[in-house]
Amino acid sequence: MSLTYTRYLELEKLLTLQQPRSSPPEHDEMLFIVVHQVYELWFKQLLHELDKIKRDFSANDLYGAIHTFKRARTVMKTLVGQLDILETMTPMSFNSFRDRLETASGFQSAQFRELEFALGYKRSDMDFAALYGKDTAGHAAVVRRLGERSVIDHFYEFLEQRGAAIPEELKSRDVTASNAPDERVQAALLDLYQRAKDVAILFELMTDFDEGLQEWRYRHVKLVERTIGNKKGTGGSLGVEFLKRSLFQPMFHDLWAIRHQL
Ligand code: HEM
Repeated sequence: MSLTYTRYLELEKLLTLQQPRSSPPEHDEMLFIVVHQVYELWFKQLLHELDKIKRDFSANDLYGAIHTFKRARTVMKTLVGQLDILETMTPMSFNSFRDRLETASGFQSAQFRELEFALGYKRSDMDFAALYGKDTAGHAAVVRRLGERSVIDHFYEFLEQRGAAIPEELKSRDVTASNAPDERVQAALLDLYQRAKDVAILFELMTDFDEGLQEWRYRHVKLVERTIGNKKGTGGSLGVEFLKRSLFQPMFHDLWAIRHQL
């Protein structure tokens, strides 16, 4: 039998994965599950794209990196836009099934943490075993990403191939620590902005992507605030107060640090 749409996409599996837990059923629980699953699929795609960007950077492939950052930025915009759908769910409606989540929370999204780590924001003070469960694929993936060079580490490699002098200590830095702003890198970025218009296109796309992630954090906090107010999160954090701490957290610090000099 020839390959069908259903088999190629494994739809029989995919469409059995939405399992609301409320009894009697609460209408909006399906939306809550579908939206989160869709996010996880997009996170998977973004990780796939970021892995390619790392290879593009190391290979000095500017056009490859531009192409892929354009896609990653577009996915990010879609992620922000999708929160509108969940905001059609009222606090009353969410309350009707919130207890069914028990301690489940987006806080335990291993792929989201992978994304942060891949982008160089290594939040290694978190208890990964408690968050993701020891011996789970999610835990292994987060730990692996913690020990991997980030997009920024590969970006340094790219910049060097474009004539920038990247300090030795940045090239051999401890990759389990977050990437941090560096004035020498900023000077190199300024120089490239001025003399390499094609590389400047890449920098702008990277800034778009980073702004998109910050928009997501802001929209998520507002969604949380309008849905649960100042209640604690199901993941055990302070909720809105906890989420506010990473608002405006840039990934590509050096690109933001020079805007006033452009
Ligand atoms: C009604 C909808 C939502 C509510 C009330 C909500 C609530 C929360 C709260 C309170 C936290 C803080 C951790 C905790 O104590 O639980 C959190 C974290 C998080 N949520 Fe949501 N959330 C919602 C929708 C979403 C959606 C659609 C996603 C998409 C995947 C998502 C992803 C995350 C992530 C990744 C974190 C961790 C953020 C970080 O560590 O910086 N949430 N959420």
